[in-house]
Parts: sequence; structure tokens; C-alpha cells
Amino acid sequence: MNVVVVGLQWGDEGKGKIIDYLSQQKDIIVRFQGGNNAGHTVVVGEKKFIFHLIPSGILHKNKICIIGNGLVIDPEVLISEIETLRAENIEVSPQNLKISHLSHIIMPYHKLIDALREKIRIQKIGTTQRGIGPCYVDKVARCGIRMIDLMRPEVFEFKLKDNLQEKNPLFKKVYNCKGFSFSEIYEKYLEFAKILKPYVCDIVDYCYEKRNKSYLFEGAQGTFLDIDFGTYPFVTSSSTISTGALLGSGLSFIKINKIIGVTKAYTTRVGEGPFPTELKEDLGKYFQKKGREFGATTGRVRRCGLLDLVLLKRAVILNNVNEIILTKLDVLDGIDEIKICISYEYKNKMISNYSFPPDLSEVVPIYKTLKGWKESTENIRGYKKLPSAAKKYIHTIEKFVGCKITYISVGKMRDAIIKKL
Ligand code: GDP
Ligand code: IMO
Ligand code: MG
Repeated sequence: MNVVVVGLQWGDEGKGKIIDYLSQQKDIIVRFQGGNNAGHTVVVGEKKFIFHLIPSGILHKNKICIIGNGLVIDPEVLISEIETLRAENIEVSPQNLKISHLSHIIMPYHKLIDALREKIRIQKIGTTQRGIGPCYVDKVARCGIRMIDLMRPEVFEFKLKDNLQEKNPLFKKVYNCKGFSFSEIYEKYLEFAKILKPYVCDIVDYCYEKRNKSYLFEGAQGTFLDIDFGTYPFVTSSSTISTGALLGSGLSFIKINKIIGVTKAYTTRVGEGPFPTELKEDLGKYFQKKGREFGATTGRVRRCGLLDLVLLKRAVILNNVNEIILTKLDVLDGIDEIKICISYEYKNKMISNYSFPPDLSEVVPIYKTLKGWKESTENIRGYKKLPSAAKKYIHTIEKFVGCKITYISVGKMRDAIIKKL
């Protein structure tokens, strides 16, 4: 069984925890897009691991983790992630971590452009400032530096020179700041290359041999951060939906058997952009505090709001989701009444589920109110034991989006998960 896992909202749905859980049954875990804008959390006992580039399956023994061609890699961050895991006695070696030679490298100038562009633009995106967007821009502009280029000093040299020739005047003339010296970047990145070389390979070739193994694809970000289908321009620069899995890994010779979408029981978003069900006060602050809604990458406070079934349904359609995993249900414990968005009003007209308005910032959410539950769900492990109001909440979601929920996560710990049959 080859399974793709994607986020159905604006990221941070709890994908890391779910990937860690599902990895037990899989041989190979693959990241296929994004970079270290992602922060995937796995909590094991007293320890908290936050993965930015390495797939969240690495904690399990005898698994192979793959960083696909669709990623943009900050080598310094990757090396530090490898070292941090090793210091915790987690095996990370060229035997269990493979990096695509076709992945792209985030350079210091990408990070600076990301920061400067954000600073001067009228409409800010609120990026993670990790250089993600500018690196993908260079990939498409065909001036990017790939892992394979970094591994060949003579190729790296002329590609870096070409880039600096173009970028340094931009820093000087447009942004009025200092550019980069060739030798500083060159020497530093060749050191990174030496460390990463044993991990780098042709993933297509490597995995074709292993085409009968079971694969788990780990999406980063979420559906509405997708470059094409998200709330553009408040999106990331990669294809976050399930369709991106094969393209971003090169594993077109395997069959995908199942697509799982992960959603929180409410909604969060980091950075700018429309968010129809956002709650700036009271319950929003409650979700923020109880759900510990701080970004795993930048530490920024996550905006919080109610569950939006209009968006969820669209995400199920866009990703061709077969099953949903619902996370953070425990955060809703103790609330008297919970509202859930079931439609939008747009320019004084109710809109149907399928005709999506061009600008989400102009919609008014229409809610259905459901009864809450008093009991704590955190220690419940059997579906039948959930409070009936919680089951009603789950059932309402399933019915509206037309897709079954198969697992419910009720806490950050590894075992805080309920299988719903
Ligand atoms: P990801 O980017 O989708 O992997 O999600 P993040 O790791 O950025 O954010 C999810 C946060 O919620 C992390 O701090 C997790 O430890 C935590 N978490 C995951 N599932 C649950 C859950 O069911 N309940 C609670 N209370 N916390 C959870
Ligand atoms: P995970 O994988 C939540 C958001 C940023 C910003 C926008 C663009 O942990 O779910 P970028 O740096 O990608 O150019 O920023 O996307 N963003 C995320 N939000 N979770 C993420 O990843 C995110 N990765 C990017 O906050 O709004
Ligand atoms: Mg995250």
C-alpha cells in the first residue's frame, strides 16, 4: 500500500505526528516538496522532535527516508538537522537517508531576497523568510543550483558566478544593500557538499529497484498554501496537493493506493491572507493557548478560527482524498457550543460548495451550531468511548465533506490516537 498524506488546511494540521504513526507500517517515507518552511512535530515521551527537511518517519528503525527532487534544501539546516538527530542517538546515515541529486539548493541570496521583498512590498505574504520562494523562482528561471551541481565544484563555480553577476547589482540598486562575495559562499557551500555527498543519489534509479516496497509520501504545508489552488498570493511556492507527490519524488512507476488528508478539528493559519472563520478574540485566543498554536518553524503565533467545511470539502476534492484524519479534537474539550462553517455568503448571495469565490477575504461564513462536550478526550482510546457530542461533530464533518474519518488524534503524544472503524 502506497499512501500520500497531505494537509487539508493552511499547514500545521499535525502531519508530523500522523506520518510518525503511519510510518510503522511502511518501508520508505518520502518528502516531495517545500523546504525548511515546514516544521513537523513528533513528540515521543519527554522528547519533542521538529522536522524541517528530514521525513518524520526517521525515528523508526529500518526505514528509508527520501528527500525528493521537489524540495528546496538549505544545506546548513539539513546538516544541523542530521547532527541534532544523531546527538539523540537516532540513526541518520547514507543507508537510511537519501537525497535527490535533482533537488534545489537554497543560497544565502535567496534568504536575503525573501526578507527584503517582504520588507518593501505593500501587500505582505508573511513568509517564513527561509528563501523558499526565491529558490523556486530560480528553479523555474533555469538558473537554480541543484544538489548535483553543488557536488561538482567546476559546475558550482560558474553557476554561482552567473547568479551573483545578476543578483549583486539587484541588491545594490534595488534594495540598496551589500551583495555577496563569491569566495565566501563558494568555500562554505563546498564544505556542505562534502558532508552531504554520501547521501545524494538518483532517486528514480534507487527506488525503481525498490518499487515493490511500501511508500508513504509526506506532504508539507497544506492545500490552501498550494501555489495553484491556494489563496494566492498568500501561498507557498510549491505544489502542496497530492498530485505533487509523484512529480516531486520521481516515483511515477509506483501506484498510489490511498490519499489521506489531515485536518485539525478547528483551523489555523500563520502569515497573511484571507481566513473566513478566523476568531481574533475569546475562542480564537482559547484555541491558540490550549492548542499551543505557535509556529514550529518561526515561533510566530498562529491565527485561529473555527472549522470551515466549505474549504475542507474543496480540499477533499482537490486532493482526491480517500480518508481524513482529524487532529487536535482534545482542544475542543470543555466548550459549550461549537460552530462549524457550512457555507459562504458572497456579495449578498449564498454560494454552493462547488463555485468557489475568487477572493476569500470577501466571503461571510454561515455557521451551524453544534453542542460541545465537557469531558476530556485526551485519554480516550476507543471511538465508542468518545462523548456523543464529539461523535456528532465528527459525523457532521464526514457527512458534509462526503469522506470518512479513519483516525482521531486527541493529544500530542504518539499514542494519543483513536482508530475509528
Ligand atoms: P505539521 O506541520 O502538520 O506537522 O504540524 P505542526 O507540528 O506544525 O503542528 C501541530 C502541533 O500540534 C504540534 O505541536 C503537535 O505536537 C501538536 N499536536 C498534533 N496532534 C495533536 C493533537 O491531537 N492534540 C494536541 N493537543 N496537539 C497535537
Ligand atoms: P508545515 O509543513 C504553516 C506559510 C507561511 C506564509 C506562506 C509562505 O509545517 O505545515 P514561505 O516561507 O513558504 O514562502 O511562506 O506559507 N507556510 C506555512 N504555514 N505550516 C507550514 O508548513 C508552512 N510553510 C509555509 O507562514 O504564510
Ligand atoms: Mg508545521
